[in-house]
Amino acid sequence: MGKTNYSDKRLKEISSVYLENGLAKTAKLLGVKNSTVERAIREAKARDIFMDAGDNSTKKYINKILETYTDQELKVLANGKKQLLEANKKLNINFDGNRVKIGVFGDTHIGHKKFYEQRVYAAFEEFKKEKIDFICHTGDVTEGMSHRPGHIYELTHLGYDQQKQYAIDIFGQWKDSPIYAIDGNHDRWYIKSNGALIVKDIATQLENFHFLGHDEGDIQLNNNTFIRLWHGEDGNSYALSYRVQKILESLQGGDKPNIMFCGHTHKYVKLFERNVHAISIGCIEDQTKWMRGKRIAANPGFGIYDITFNDTGIVKLKETFYPFY
Ligand SMILES: [Fe+2]
Repeated sequence: MGKTNYSDKRLKEISSVYLENGLAKTAKLLGVKNSTVERAIREAKARDIFMDAGDNSTKKYINKILETYTDQELKVLANGKKQLLEANKKLNINFDGNRVKIGVFGDTHIGHKKFYEQRVYAAFEEFKKEKIDFICHTGDVTEGMSHRPGHIYELTHLGYDQQKQYAIDIFGQWKDSPIYAIDGNHDRWYIKSNGALIVKDIATQLENFHFLGHDEGDIQLNNNTFIRLWHGEDGNSYALSYRVQKILESLQGGDKPNIMFCGHTHKYVKLFERNVHAISIGCIEDQTKWMRGKRIAANPGFGIYDITFNDTGIVKLKETFYPFY
């Protein structure tokens, strides 16, 4: 990266115009390329003269930030919360001891008529009573917008903004421990239509809610024990255990989680195969018209998993499943 020959005085002038007008307009005003302005700003920052450039405009920027963001968002920004987006980066959790209690649910489909928020609150209540360490959400946090004819009439909340805000209102009520979530195929409809990462965006606005990745995310409990959250985009299946079984068969040796919490099928299934405890966690959303049309049943409910582990892996896994009828 080449350096500019600008004097401190010139760099301050450019910085001042930049703070007032932004990149493109500054380049236009000064009759230079965007890259030249960028280089000058980098150099001004390196010489530590960037912020001296324009006291008033800096204040103007800070005021604009204060006006744009809510107190909650500012707190998150100030804490420098990083999204755990990198698919291969495992989330390391430090536990004292070798036991963890996890509340698990998925397929909430917030924004659909068949999503009932009181079910999430019922789960929160139980999680609180049982003093869980964290919550896992296995994807399809929101219903999304499919553009399928008639889908719009199945929704209580239309579009990205409404569904995102509704999810924030609900998950914002849980303050006791972190929620770790992946996104699902429904959430990703927003990526297809306008590039928006709705679950990541929800996480950005909540201190307790963390986005682990698209479709899958890993939570490392110790050197030899990790949990994988999985959603998947493949079709639903009539046979209850078929999909989970296929996923287990396809896992590569050396990359097998000790526990896998699966979303997507809306079925409650438990399998132990290839030393992996696989649990398809059911759903929060009730059976939809689309599912009825396809003759697919739903198993609404949530679970609490009390896991004892040591250096060699899982020692004991105690499950409590709470069905909704
Ligand atoms: Fe789903």
